[in-house]
Amino acid sequence: MLYKAISKTLAVVIVAIVIIAIAAGVAIYMYYLTPRGPTKLVFIVIGKSVHPYWSVVEAGVKKAGQELGVDAIFWVPSKEDVPAQLSTMDSYIAQKVAGIAIAPSDPGAATPYINKGLQQGIPVITIDTDAPQSNRLVYLGTGNYKAGWLAGLVAWQLAKEKGYIKPGATIKVAMLTGSLTAMNSLERMAGFKHAIMNCSVKDPDIKGNINIVWLGPYNDQEDPTQALNLALSVLQANPDLTIAFGVYAYDGPAWAKALKQAGFPPGKVILVEFDVTSDNVPPLVEGYALATIGQRQYFMGYYGVKLLYNMTKYGVEQALKQFIPGYPNNKIYDTGVDIVSTKHIEFTAPTGEKIIVLSLDEYKTLAQKLGIDPSLLGLS
Ligand code: BGC
Repeated sequence: MLYKAISKTLAVVIVAIVIIAIAAGVAIYMYYLTPRGPTKLVFIVIGKSVHPYWSVVEAGVKKAGQELGVDAIFWVPSKEDVPAQLSTMDSYIAQKVAGIAIAPSDPGAATPYINKGLQQGIPVITIDTDAPQSNRLVYLGTGNYKAGWLAGLVAWQLAKEKGYIKPGATIKVAMLTGSLTAMNSLERMAGFKHAIMNCSVKDPDIKGNINIVWLGPYNDQEDPTQALNLALSVLQANPDLTIAFGVYAYDGPAWAKALKQAGFPPGKVILVEFDVTSDNVPPLVEGYALATIGQRQYFMGYYGVKLLYNMTKYGVEQALKQFIPGYPNNKIYDTGVDIVSTKHIEFTAPTGEKIIVLSLDEYKTLAQKLGIDPSLLGLS
């Protein structure tokens, strides 16, 4: 009897063990058999400051991320902040992201970080502003010397139309910028200055007979409050200012606000801005800014992510060959600029270039054609 009961219990236990073992086996088998999606690729884009300019870059980053089904992260410091940019980059290198695009506020300081990322097998490119001494794979952004040059040609033309450019005259030109280290700022200012100097020599009405007083560059470190204070103090010390150049997106609006606060009538000072954003359009419409250089920063974000993705998918060399005209001799992709004002203007500069300035309406149509939502640019 007892023997029978024991053997019955034993049989139940054995059956239970067998069932559990089979269930566990099936579970393990199913676990390894079930297809799991690959972990999402992560790309990081590091900008320079909080401004509607960078929101447009971010929109491009997000759009590319959506289209590719990857995580495209966009990060900016609140104002120019080299250490914050670099520590952020370092932490993403440690996380072994799939690719990094950075707009280095200080190319010298960024170079070891860019090279470190590359050494660890992470593709690194620059956007908006370059670090050519580093091993960055490519620069994707505005040709800034040329863009500054165009700003200078327009400033000369508008100042001449206003009667400020006359033989023997003295003109005062002030530059307000957000960085004295970033290459885009330095190149823009160099191009701007060279254009005005060239015009002064080549303009047949002037032939070098003009006195140009250069003020600045004043550095607001991409801080709008600092930009406004600097602009106000320049205007107070120079009520006879002829030309004001807003080198970064912040700077035109800061000049415009200062001109308004200081009681200057719109258009008295020839203000040329950079960028078309919700911050830059009102000064144009109110007549304080007379022209602006529109960058195509949407594509810095959009193509930046797409290019990094292609590098992970097809290999760095293949992706670059497909995307960069003239690669490997050329490692720059120029996203292009447009000159914009409230009205369409055409003129031939003293340097011989034929210049076309688009009206805000024409620019809006162009943006639509390029696939950029005009409301992102402050054009509705
Ligand atoms: C520049 C950026 C800068 C932004 C806001 C743009 O014109 O290209 O480098 O961060 O202005 O200041």
